[in-house]
Amino acid sequence: MGALLLISNLAIGPFLFFLAEIPNFLSEEECKLIIHLAQLKGLQKSQTLPTDNYEEAMEMIEVSPMDVFNLLDHNQDGQLQLKEVLTHTRLGNGRWMTPENIREMYTAVKADPDGDGVLSLEEFKQLNLKDFHKYMGSQKVKVSDLVRNSQHTWLYQGEGAHQVMRSIRQRVLRLTRLPREIVEHSEPMQVVRYDQGGHYHAHMDSGPVFPETACSHTKLIANETSPFETSCRYVTVLFYLNNVTGGGETTFPVADNRTYDELSLIQNDIDLRDTRKHCDKGNLRVKPRQGTAVFWYNYLSDGQGWVGELDEYSLHGGCLVTQGTKWIANNWINVDPSRSRQIQFHQEMARYAQEELEAQPEWTVDKSYKNVHIEL
Ligand SMILES: *[C@@H]1O[C@H](CO)[C@@H](O)[C@H](O)[C@H]1NC(C)=O
Ligand SMILES: *[C@@H]1O[C@H](CO)[C@@H](O)[C@H](O)[C@H]1NC(C)=O
Ligand SMILES: *[C@@H]1O[C@H](CO)[C@@H](O)[C@H](O)[C@H]1NC(C)=O
Repeated sequence: MGALLLISNLAIGPFLFFLAEIPNFLSEEECKLIIHLAQLKGLQKSQTLPTDNYEEAMEMIEVSPMDVFNLLDHNQDGQLQLKEVLTHTRLGNGRWMTPENIREMYTAVKADPDGDGVLSLEEFKQLNLKDFHKYMGSQKVKVSDLVRNSQHTWLYQGEGAHQVMRSIRQRVLRLTRLPREIVEHSEPMQVVRYDQGGHYHAHMDSGPVFPETACSHTKLIANETSPFETSCRYVTVLFYLNNVTGGGETTFPVADNRTYDELSLIQNDIDLRDTRKHCDKGNLRVKPRQGTAVFWYNYLSDGQGWVGELDEYSLHGGCLVTQGTKWIANNWINVDPSRSRQIQFHQEMARYAQEELEAQPEWTVDKSYKNVHIEL
């Protein structure tokens, strides 16, 4: 694989973020084939518009205004700054909230009489949370207002898959130098299409892990109910399947930054996570180029040769596609931070393989991959 020798490190520092860009990882024909297979399979919206049960959902959460205030008051200074409200993305119920949106909301529910964009505890206490929910529920949301505006599908890469899909998995195995069984038992390939106007605001591909966190791929063998679940995507390999006419870069707003602080992502009403407006202000951007793969780790090492904490410098997003269509694919390598659970998972997978069950056991993959075997 000559192509593998062309790795260039775009970003790498002492404790910082590693990102490799590999041109010609896929041939033009392979890119076209993946797009073709994805189209045959059919793509679905990556995120749907929030339904109007927003109010209902919020009412079920029974917390006092004081608790809500404390939860939002990140730096515990007794004041709610706009950026503290914005970093709680769940507030928007799938809608991406901008500083302007928050100001409009404050005005609509008369939350901030002095108009300084900061809520004191007194101002917050005056606020009827029901008014807030009503306001949010009454907002007309367009796809461009969502966190993610794209379509995607999943392509199977296991035994019996299309020879090109198998071959890409083998190349990813050599690229990442991870054990074969880990790569073979990871998620299928995700193919994503962004039309003109598409975007994906900056996010992490996987979540933080606490001792009680379950991984989606191993949770059923773990046989315990956990309050938290994440996808445990140790590695991301992203493939560009076409040249994009305008926009559509992948941005890493804090790659190689000296320090990282979540609240510093938003300064003077500029939210660095906003890939529709502020892609040009991030630390690193990769321009889509057909056949190029980029690869990075979403977790740090635990110092003992296994997966450790989430690497916040891996924050990334898809910039607004200003012209044409953008096609990419993702291969995620899933590793459970609990080494024993990961090993148990492989044993179970081996057992199933031996029993020659035709389909992969359902618990190995997320429900959304359910139809990945269909013909592909
Ligand atoms: C999970 O635990 C229950 C009770 O301990 C047991 O009956 C069940 O067989 C276990 N399931 C799996 C998949 O190990
Ligand atoms: C994509 O762009 C690269 C240069 O950036 C070029 O070499 C390649 O031929 C282009 N591919 C297509 C299909 O236009
Ligand atoms: C990036 O690093 C600089 C210098 O340490 C720091 O001032 C800034 O807040 C950092 N940005 C983020 C988003 O943490």
